[in-house]
Amino acid sequence: MTNTTKKLLQVTDLQIGIPHPRRETLVIVNKASFDVGYGEMVGIVGESGSGKTMVCRSMIGTLERRGAKVLAGQVLFEDQDLAHASETTWKKLRGKAIGYVPQSALAGPNPVLTIGAQLSEALKKSDTKGTIAEQSKALLELVKIRRIDTVMKQYPNQLSGGMRQRVMIACALASNPKLLIADEPTTGLDVTVQAQIMVLLKEIRNEFGTAIILISHDLALIDDVCDRVVVMHAGATVEVGSVSEMTTPRHPYTVALNQSRIDIAVPGSELVTILGNAPSVGQWPTGCRFAGRCTIVQSDCTSGDHPPLFGDRGAHQSACLHADLLKGR
Ligand SMILES: Nc1ncnc2c1ncn2[C@@H]1O[C@H](COP(=O)(O)OP(=O)(O)OP(=O)(O)O)[C@@H](O)[C@H]1O
Ligand SMILES: [Mg+2]
Repeated sequence: MTNTTKKLLQVTDLQIGIPHPRRETLVIVNKASFDVGYGEMVGIVGESGSGKTMVCRSMIGTLERRGAKVLAGQVLFEDQDLAHASETTWKKLRGKAIGYVPQSALAGPNPVLTIGAQLSEALKKSDTKGTIAEQSKALLELVKIRRIDTVMKQYPNQLSGGMRQRVMIACALASNPKLLIADEPTTGLDVTVQAQIMVLLKEIRNEFGTAIILISHDLALIDDVCDRVVVMHAGATVEVGSVSEMTTPRHPYTVALNQSRIDIAVPGSELVTILGNAPSVGQWPTGCRFAGRCTIVQSDCTSGDHPPLFGDRGAHQSACLHADLLKGR
């Protein structure tokens, strides 16, 4: 059944490439489609290079900084198509309706600015009420930082990794965004701190109704906190579904991701790794881009276009031509 409720974000057939003056444009994302509902927490999972960050960059207008651009498709945020927004539009939008905690944010806070100064910078762009000092304190309270007066005067290198990540989340929340994108926010943090950051994100969603996109390599982490999951492989969305739907995956790549999870491996058993490597960008094969690594590959998988997502939008969707062969796996 099609879910007709109005979505906050709708990404449709997004294609992103890196134009080159002499060579053919390198296509790095092709066939990315998914929705994010109001107040929904959506996880994007996929191995390194699958295009997770580039897809999110298209939502905050920073593709150009990486030499990339949207070649086709739509990124509808409420009623505005961000895929083709001009730089003037981005100047108004950036850092406002969508907050972004960049990948490697642990190294991200400006090392020469105190936490107070970083928050003032972020708050300058927002039009929320109150003095900058009041708002900065409120933001640090929101991300559960204690000893606020001391922390405001400190530099990033004086804080632990978990605290630095909380500060980055506070900065991203400065404009009270409707959507917060957290790109691998817990990479490099120990397991306990990881869990605390996840709890914090969930609390932010529950308390303020902020929709959240959480990018991670770790399906277990996403399962714990998200409502829905988007699986990416070689620049394409290969499966979309609710966390419970994902317990019976309809794409062999998701099956493989599930089997390679440390948390559900039987103690003493050998951890299953995913066969082969994802094809490199620019070297995608004809047909399904997962075919070369797939355990249920059929003769029709290696011809034609990479399959689209089958199934109704909002329901459990998979880009596998032979998902029925996965039943019972
Ligand atoms: N400027 C660039 N020139 C060439 N290739 C690029 C450029 N920027 C990104 N890419 C390629 O685009 C692909 C998608 O990159 P992206 O950063 O979105 O991956 P990712 O899924 O976020 O990976 P990770 O999990 O490692 O962060 C990668 O193969 C990357 O090498
Ligand atoms: Mg990334």
